[in-house]
Amino acid sequence: MGYISDKTIREVNERLDPVSLVGDYVRLEKRGGRYWGLCPFHNEKTPSFSVDPDRKMYYCFGCHEGGGMISFLMTMDKLSFPEAVETLAKRLGVELIYENTGDQPQDRGKTTRMEELAELYRRVAGSFHHLLMESPQGKGARDYILERGIDPGMIDRFRLGYAPADRNWLFQFLSHKGYTEPFLAQSGLFSKNNPRLSFFGDRLMFPIADRQGRTVAFGGRILSAEGPKYLNSSESEIYKKGETLFAIDLALPEIRKSREVYLAEGYMDVIALHQAGIGNAAAPLGTAFTDGQAKLLRRWAERIILVFDADEAGRNAAVKAILTCRRNGLACSVVASEGDGEENYQKFKDPADILKERGPETLQKRVKCFINDFEYLLIHSKALYDTSDSEGKARAVAFLFPYVEALDSEISREACMERIADTFRVEVQAVRDDYRHFDARRQSEPKKGPVPPQSPGPGQKAVRMNDELFLLVAVVVNPGFYPRLRAVLSIEEFEDPNAKELFIALEEWYRNDAPGMDDLLSRINSGGVRNFVVERGTSEAFRIHPEQLISDGIKRITQKRLERRRAEIVLELRSMRNEGTGSRSADLLSEKVYIDTELHRFKDSNK
Ligand code: UTP
Ligand code: MN
Repeated sequence: MGYISDKTIREVNERLDPVSLVGDYVRLEKRGGRYWGLCPFHNEKTPSFSVDPDRKMYYCFGCHEGGGMISFLMTMDKLSFPEAVETLAKRLGVELIYENTGDQPQDRGKTTRMEELAELYRRVAGSFHHLLMESPQGKGARDYILERGIDPGMIDRFRLGYAPADRNWLFQFLSHKGYTEPFLAQSGLFSKNNPRLSFFGDRLMFPIADRQGRTVAFGGRILSAEGPKYLNSSESEIYKKGETLFAIDLALPEIRKSREVYLAEGYMDVIALHQAGIGNAAAPLGTAFTDGQAKLLRRWAERIILVFDADEAGRNAAVKAILTCRRNGLACSVVASEGDGEENYQKFKDPADILKERGPETLQKRVKCFINDFEYLLIHSKALYDTSDSEGKARAVAFLFPYVEALDSEISREACMERIADTFRVEVQAVRDDYRHFDARRQSEPKKGPVPPQSPGPGQKAVRMNDELFLLVAVVVNPGFYPRLRAVLSIEEFEDPNAKELFIALEEWYRNDAPGMDDLLSRINSGGVRNFVVERGTSEAFRIHPEQLISDGIKRITQKRLERRRAEIVLELRSMRNEGTGSRSADLLSEKVYIDTELHRFKDSNK
């Protein structure tokens, strides 16, 4: 082994299709020469994340994350550089060539440890499964599952297992296989106080896998009546609770197809749903549904269908999950437990219960009846508050405001407020007024997370006019020209950080249908730049012959960029002179020829 050769890296880069690679994580839509989608690196509701298919680059206008495709995969899947290249090479059928340089890549240690951990979990899951299926001591657990109506097929599909009552067994078993005590001690499978004592004893085991189906953790259900009902293994290098979902590996194919996810509360519920033919079911892991999990699902799904327990805890969890969905741009529906005419399902606690009592066909039929999340909240708020007087009404209405807030369009918000007014028989204007107060209070609450940059202090440099800013201010003053600007220039072509910031603000503003100057200005974070735009933008000079002004400006910037690139090429070619000529220098030379022709054309057209 050693470093991956440049040849392999180059070939991977050549063969990969950026749109399909990113498309695995982000839903993309073509607009202009680029593809656009919701940024996977920050929370947003209108797409500012873009992929340039020709350059094989990605960039987010919102959070400024950007780079090439390998770095995209590294960030998304938390891979090291060699891991990302290896993954891509395997996928693309590129031959992996290593160059032996004598020393090892830097993160070799970490990679190895993670691989070893994954291998350990795979082994342990296999042994637990074997114990469940074959051993006399697993019989109780086996009977228990069958008694709950779970098919043997599902036991296989989920690789359910049994952790023996003798908590010394696992350590002995693994040390016979050559595992050392220090390694096992940090595996999360053993008691913190006694590293030879298994964390799980006499439990029905649910392996938790990552997206690729590698076991990374376990949940264990109690069988004898002692201790908490479920124990979950702790987080580790390979397992982050808030970013993993139970059964995501099994559900992914169906999620991709249907663009929907059934989200249940528990392990057993997910298994019940799969048995009922609902292959796109998953569950959070003993925690509330997190933003991280929502973001993960948003890569493939448009809608979440909640099938939570029919008790108070389940209803409260559903309200929270609805907001989490909406905040992250996911539509949401809820399988309601109220009767559907034939039967009142409230008497069943959860999907696993329905499976056991009524069988898979009924469960399947049952979960196809869901209602829109807002309808669900309306019903819930009427149940929570006595709305016979105005005070109760006000509270019921206020209960719905966080939902209104989480919506991503003004039109949906307005529609909701009309619906609220209708439901509680109040004036829609009153709802709007209350919402405004609610919103104002929210805005004044201290925000979590990083504080946006403030206006420049006395020590900061004043903004100076340059070609780039000149062009952008001209566009701010004549916003009708923005589509033309963005069609020919992209953010990477601007050098000045102030101009970059202004360009990003323009882009965001444009993508929000250019709702007025105030909105544009509010998107400029730096006070210095904002003031500069306001100040210069008032100059009459920008209003005379804007067309000419803008096309000249675009030309100048393109020309400058070409000149900069030319200088870079010349430098690189010079530095390569002694190392013989490879395909790299051939590429550079042909790029230089192209640039020279372009520059000539510019000079001619300026004559
Ligand atoms: P429930 O208590 O609803 O469990 O918790 P369940 O799935 O219906 O249990 P069964 O059907 O009796 O087996 C829902 C989920 O919350 C987590 C587990 O992930 C469980 O599946 N949980 C619950 C824990 O992590 N620890 C607990 O002690 C209880
Ligand atoms: Mn339950």
